[in-house]
Order: sequence, then structure tokens, then C-alpha cells
Amino acid sequence: MRAPLSSLLAEERARFAAEHPRSAAAHAEATPHLLGGVPMPWMAKWAGGFPVYLAEAHGARVVDLDGHEYADLCLGDTGAMAGHSPRPTVDAVRERLEARGGATVMLPTEDAAWVGAELARRFGVPQWQFTLTATDANRFALRFCRQLTGRRKVLVFSWCYHGSVDETFVVLEDGRPRAREGLVGAAVDPTETTAVVEFNDLPALEAALTGQEIACVLAEPALTNIGIVLPEPGFWDGVRAACSRTGTLLIIDETHTLSAGPGGCTRAWGLEPDLVTLGKAIGGGVPIGAYGVSKAVAERMAADTEGDYEDAGGVGGTLAGNALSLAAARATLADVLTADAFARMTALQERFTAGVRATIARHGLPWCVVELGARAEYRFAPEPPRTGAESAAVADTELEDYLHLAVLNRGVLITPFHNMALMSPATTEAEVDRHTEAFADAVAALVS
Ligand SMILES: Cc1ncc(COP(=O)(O)O)c(C=O)c1O
Repeated sequence: MRAPLSSLLAEERARFAAEHPRSAAAHAEATPHLLGGVPMPWMAKWAGGFPVYLAEAHGARVVDLDGHEYADLCLGDTGAMAGHSPRPTVDAVRERLEARGGATVMLPTEDAAWVGAELARRFGVPQWQFTLTATDANRFALRFCRQLTGRRKVLVFSWCYHGSVDETFVVLEDGRPRAREGLVGAAVDPTETTAVVEFNDLPALEAALTGQEIACVLAEPALTNIGIVLPEPGFWDGVRAACSRTGTLLIIDETHTLSAGPGGCTRAWGLEPDLVTLGKAIGGGVPIGAYGVSKAVAERMAADTEGDYEDAGGVGGTLAGNALSLAAARATLADVLTADAFARMTALQERFTAGVRATIARHGLPWCVVELGARAEYRFAPEPPRTGAESAAVADTELEDYLHLAVLNRGVLITPFHNMALMSPATTEAEVDRHTEAFADAVAALVS
């Protein structure tokens, strides 16, 4: 099966270049003044050699500068999980920005309290504040935990991703922690700040927490950034119990796992975090991040006379909690990412998964699909990996590049660094079926 892969990829690259002259020209024009030719490093990761340039995006459809229309299953790597420019969000943003005015004023709006109450209802922790990114929400949550426990270290799962948070770029290799390869300009070796264990390895987590040196565990309920790795039965009960036993705080990062339902995995699986962080989708495309804390954590913060939680304590952001983000988040949560929408999105994911599984079965490939509500990811392994290391071991960059580019050339976008598809409330069955056909075509070429 593997022999023709590099030539198939070359063919897809040639087709991509031939069919995207305007994107190519825009990229060439941008390159002298954008570092790496892109406004953000990740945008250089598309497999075609240069990125597709955006012209328009509505619902789950994207149109590029060359006039090609795509079914968008990438959805801004979750930033657009609410769909592109959902009507309620657009109306709320226009109302705030144009009619009423005041995007960022350093004054609270009533929208902030509404969003705080809604997130409390969904995730079960009562008190919230806002940032511009999920990265910042995680950075601040780590600070709170160190401050409140007086402990220096944090713990993460190997191959996690929580945004560009210094402490999290650490993996286990042969049972020993090491900094992630290629880490840029780290101030401190993250093995000094962070303990790391494999996901689903409860004994290792319990052992790491025993010494009571760890301020907090920062975790996604399921890993989603090294493929999807689901927790085994009892894992989260064990993590919660170990944290409670050792005075370790538990931060659950729902930025991606919000796909599991209106209250993410926290609600769907009955998790009991001390802090919850999220971002991306809840602003309907407008930047926002959020962190919520339990009543006990809020009380400890209120009683802490040493930490400066208001000014120069290392937590903040001039534009954080701005009126525009919160108007967008209110409309998105109230009218777009609703419980009904999640039910439809999950059904679409099941349709996507059935389509991919049919192709896998037709060719007898040793691949599988892992599902998480509105999100699914196919893996080049017969069984779902159960740790980050197992999951990293089955990645295959050339194969991924080929499949991503082949479906892109057939009118479907999936995130360049995942084999993942995400459904929005605006996604249609026709868009899912377009992927099913494109994937079937791409795989048929591969195995023929
Ligand atoms: C689980 C998780 N948390 C946090 C982040 C950071 O989000 P942002 O880059 O929007 O700050 C990401 C980004 O992919 C993520 O996957």
C-alpha cells in the first residue's frame, strides 16, 4: 500500500498548485512582509505547500480566493465550532460594536454576568472570569493553583496540548520526562516545573501526587491534540480521588472537549473539577477564553491576602473580558451552541464516522475512528490508542498530508494537524457526505 504514497502526494500537490493560482499569488505577495509568509505559524502547516486564502465563510462552508467552495470540517480547529458567522452572534456583535458602541471600555457589561451564570449552569463551577484565549485561561489557572497551595509544580499528561503554556511542553520518553522537541526559547526547562504521566495511567498519577508537591493536575478530559484518547472506565474517579486525597487541585480544560455536549465532558461524564478552562468556540469566532472556579477555590482566593488578583499579580489582560467578546459569547451560548444543536452535531458526527468506517472496512485497513460528541478522528491503528505515547507512535505525517490534501482537492477542509472532523450547528448531511466520498476516493487511490 505504501509504495505509491510519495507520488500520490506529489500528484495532489501539483493539482493543488494548478487549481489555486490566486492563493499562490496572494501567498507570494505576503511573504516579504509576513514572517514565514503567514500571519500565524500554524497557517503554514497546510499540506499543499502554501495555504488556501480565505474569501468567504458562512455556516460550514468556506470559499477561497480561487472560487473553490469547501465543506469545512476543520472549523478553525474548534474556534468556529459554532459555524462561521452564526446569525445570532453577528447580530449581537453589530449591536454592541455599531448600534450601542464600545468594544473595549474596561467596564463590565450585563452580558458578562449572563455568560458567567450560563457557564456555571453548564459546567457546575459557580464563578467565572474571562481572557482572550484559552491559553491565557490555562496560564492564569496554573498561577492560582500554585498560589493557593504554595506548591511549585504542576502535572500534565504526556502529549497534552493546552495552548502555548510554558509548563505544558513536556513528554515522557522511556519513562523519563523531557521537554517537547523544538521548544522555542524556554525560560526554564519544563521538566523543572512539571511532572508528567501517561493518560490512563492511574498508578503513575497517584505516585506522582503522593509527595504532595504538585499544585494541580491540568488535563483535558480526553486527550484531543494527539488524536483523541478517551479515558478508561474509572480513570476520572481515580484522578479526582487522588487529587482530593493529596490536596491537589484539578483543572479541566474543556476547550476542545466541549464537543461532548453543552457542558463538555465535565457535565456529560459527571467530572468534579476545581477549576474549568475553555475558549475558542464560545465566542462564535470572536476571541474569548474563560476560567471558572469552584466555591471552595473562590473562598480560598478571597481569603488569600498575599496574592494580588487585581493588578500586577501576573493575571490580566487589557482587552480581556471586553464588551464585544462577551456580547458574542452570550449570543453564541444562548442561541447557537444549544443543547438541541449538540444533539444534531453528534448525529452528524455519527454519520461522518459511519462513512469513514465503511471505507476502512471495504479495504480491510488496520485503522479506527474515535468519537467525542461533535468531533471524530480517524487513526492509523486497529484499536484506539490508550495513552499519548501510543497515539504519537501511530502518527504518519506523509499519510496524513496525503489524505488532508486529497480531501482538500475534493472540496473538504480538515485541520492540518489532526485527522479530525468537527461538526457545527450549521453543518449539513451533504457536507458530511462530501467528506465520505472524498475520503473513499483518496483511500481507493492509495490501496489500488
Ligand atoms: C485543549 C486546548 N486548550 C487550550 C488551547 C489553547 O487555545 P488558544 O490557542 O485559542 O489559546 C488549545 C488549542 O488548541 C487546546 O486544544
